[in-house]
Amino acid sequence: MKTFLLCVPFFFFFFLSIAQGLNLKCDIQDQGSTLQVFHIFSPCSPFRPSKSISWEETVIEMQQRDQARLQYLSSLVAKKSVVPIASGRQIIQSPTYIVRAQIGTPPQTMLMAMDTSNDAAWVPCSGCVGCSSTVFNSATSTTFKNLDCGAVQCQQVPVPTCGGSVCGFNISYGGSTIAASLSQDTFTLATDPVPNYTFGCIQKTTGSSAPPQGLLGLGRGPLSLLSQTQNLYQSTFSYCLPNFRSLNFSGSLRLGPNGQPQRIKTTPLLKSPRRSSLYYVNLIGIRVGRKIVDIPASALAFNATTGAGTIFDSGTVYTRLVAPAYAAVRDEFRKRVGNLTPTSLGGFDTCYSVPIVAPTVTFMFSGMNVTLPEDNLLIHSTAGSITCLAMAASAIGVSLELNVIANMQQQNHRVLIDVPNSRLGVAREQCS
Ligand SMILES: *[C@@H]1O[C@H](CO)[C@@H](O)[C@H](O)[C@H]1NC(C)=O
Ligand SMILES: *[C@@H]1O[C@H](CO)[C@@H](O)[C@H](O)[C@H]1NC(C)=O
Ligand SMILES: *[C@@H]1O[C@H](CO)[C@@H](O)[C@H](O)[C@H]1NC(C)=O
Ligand SMILES: *[C@@H]1O[C@H](CO)[C@@H](O)[C@H](O)[C@H]1NC(C)=O
Ligand SMILES: *[C@@H]1O[C@H](CO)[C@@H](O)[C@H](O)[C@H]1NC(C)=O
Repeated sequence: MKTFLLCVPFFFFFFLSIAQGLNLKCDIQDQGSTLQVFHIFSPCSPFRPSKSISWEETVIEMQQRDQARLQYLSSLVAKKSVVPIASGRQIIQSPTYIVRAQIGTPPQTMLMAMDTSNDAAWVPCSGCVGCSSTVFNSATSTTFKNLDCGAVQCQQVPVPTCGGSVCGFNISYGGSTIAASLSQDTFTLATDPVPNYTFGCIQKTTGSSAPPQGLLGLGRGPLSLLSQTQNLYQSTFSYCLPNFRSLNFSGSLRLGPNGQPQRIKTTPLLKSPRRSSLYYVNLIGIRVGRKIVDIPASALAFNATTGAGTIFDSGTVYTRLVAPAYAAVRDEFRKRVGNLTPTSLGGFDTCYSVPIVAPTVTFMFSGMNVTLPEDNLLIHSTAGSITCLAMAASAIGVSLELNVIANMQQQNHRVLIDVPNSRLGVAREQCS
């Protein structure tokens, strides 16, 4: 109860700070095909809260957003058009990581959310109703154009709305609805210009889930960055996400096959026609300490038809496992910590207020075991007095059997997405 009360005023405050301070304070140095990646709480992010917030508030806030994120991911698989978000509460499903894109001629800088589970790129455009104050001014770009209803790209939009001649579409994202026109302009990513890039130019939005300066989808569907830069990047990219506790550091998003790690552990990349943009892998087991815990096969099994299985997602903060898988991991973890009574914090149910010696946790994928370093496994309060296992069971109300390997578990690892070779690689890398 206490935790719930804590987060209500916090959300309100957080929303205000997103709507206001939009000054880029840092000198971003993107080179070649590599973009710096910032956490939204980084000093380089205009979306960071303008006053410092407590550790407990941060944890609870992120978990609330995860809940919305999970409902969103599950709606993608279920192909529901409306996402059932708890009513009466302000849920912000804003991004965790941002990159810089330059749009138009001359270029205008936008700090876009990177989202590996989405195909589209969309940007708030001048005249937008309901967007924040930083918008892309299409009128001043000499290379901007709207696509008309006859354009081939218009047929790739799920449900185009063709009122006049301009191709438009309406979508929902988290708790927001977005109305946009389908447009083209030059996107410059690091130093690579991508001419005639097709994106959604947002005209109207409701709710507060839409990232304030747009979204750069790194999925693999028809209108995605990967599809539109086939010749340039060959559907290959990798990223290293900085730890959210070391806020002054940035990670990187490396586009294209050049400079990718050669020796890296990989697992086959799987695809569900149910949601072709999600990056599925085959999680076959989980080891806690030396013990492979007992998880019913159905909790991990990939099913292309239903979309059940395991995905890597950049937008969820804490790893979520379907209930029986989480219970097995948690029970073994507690057993190995020893004779201490766990407490809970927010949605975490395995927290300790005394120092612990934690067992290792290893995700066993087909052909690749990933053992999490302690920084990816535990969260510690600032004062070091509370430690929690940073995972949870999938949210109640999300019926889909979807395990999500989230960004906290990916931090300080390079994650390689290699679509042509159908593989996903993971290697430790200190990027923050
Ligand atoms: C799309 O959204 C716009 C703006 O909110 C609205 O006027 C229009 O009716 C919507 N169109 C469809 C087909 O839902
Ligand atoms: C981009 O579009 C413009 C105008 O339609 C066209 O002249 C140009 O050839 C296109 N450039 C590329 C690289 O496709
Ligand atoms: C991060 O940067 C801010 C502003 O430049 C500085 O005040 C702070 O000491 C830095 N923190 C760390 C941990 O380096
Ligand atoms: C996938 O799920 C469907 C529907 O529940 C089921 O009929 C099918 O047997 C499953 N496929 C596999 C490979 O388990
Ligand atoms: C992963 O770990 C398991 C259990 O320790 C082991 O049997 C398996 O061979 C390992 N797999 C790989 C690809 O190293």
